[in-house]
Amino acid sequence: MNSLKRRAALEALNWIEDGMTVGLGSGSTAEIFLHGLRHKNIQGVASSKKTEVLARSLGIPLVETNDIDVAVDGTDAVDDSLTLIKGGGGSLVREKLVAYHADVYIVIGTKEKWKKTLHDETVPVEVLPFLHEGTEELLLSAGGHCTLRLDTKKNPFVSDNGNFIYDCTDIGEVIDFHEKVVRLPGVVNTGVFLNLADIVLIGEDTGVRTERRHKA
Ligand code: 5RP
Repeated sequence: MNSLKRRAALEALNWIEDGMTVGLGSGSTAEIFLHGLRHKNIQGVASSKKTEVLARSLGIPLVETNDIDVAVDGTDAVDDSLTLIKGGGGSLVREKLVAYHADVYIVIGTKEKWKKTLHDETVPVEVLPFLHEGTEELLLSAGGHCTLRLDTKKNPFVSDNGNFIYDCTDIGEVIDFHEKVVRLPGVVNTGVFLNLADIVLIGEDTGVRTERRHKA
């Protein structure tokens, strides 16, 4: 598994040139990519506090700018329209911002992440802690079966933005669910990344499969 992650991460490094501002994703695959960046003369925009700590330890200079040349991040699931579901690590909102502001957004993952359909996936939804039980009721009426994410001590998991996360299953059509819930009061955003991925690099046993989004 790690060798497949590594394969995809190393392929993504070919897109990085000296002088670039690079969006740094979160999660184990993105971390492999980060280690490879040590040898490049770039500056990074971190998509989570954990990534920030790792980048600093690797000597990667960090900036906070929306002028991002390339962003590279992992994913929990991707289908053939290159719609992603992210947020397994709880960094979905910052990851989405970094993805949105990147000129080129590259997603790296292993073959297990490639799905025929996203209907059966769990979609994380970041919500404000204020009146979150009320937001949960709204999420349920939008059709999802949503559970508050807990940390290892069984307290609500708190995102880098100070928010809670509900993990939603049985959501039916992923894009419809996203479009319904993203408008609800209390919802910050969802882990559905629509029309963002430009390139998806999938580590497979025989090499790296490259998929590109056909822009309209
Ligand atoms: C964190 C994410 C990660 O990119 C996603 O969970 C994939 O992680 P990994 O590379 O460890 O499988 O979205 O919020």
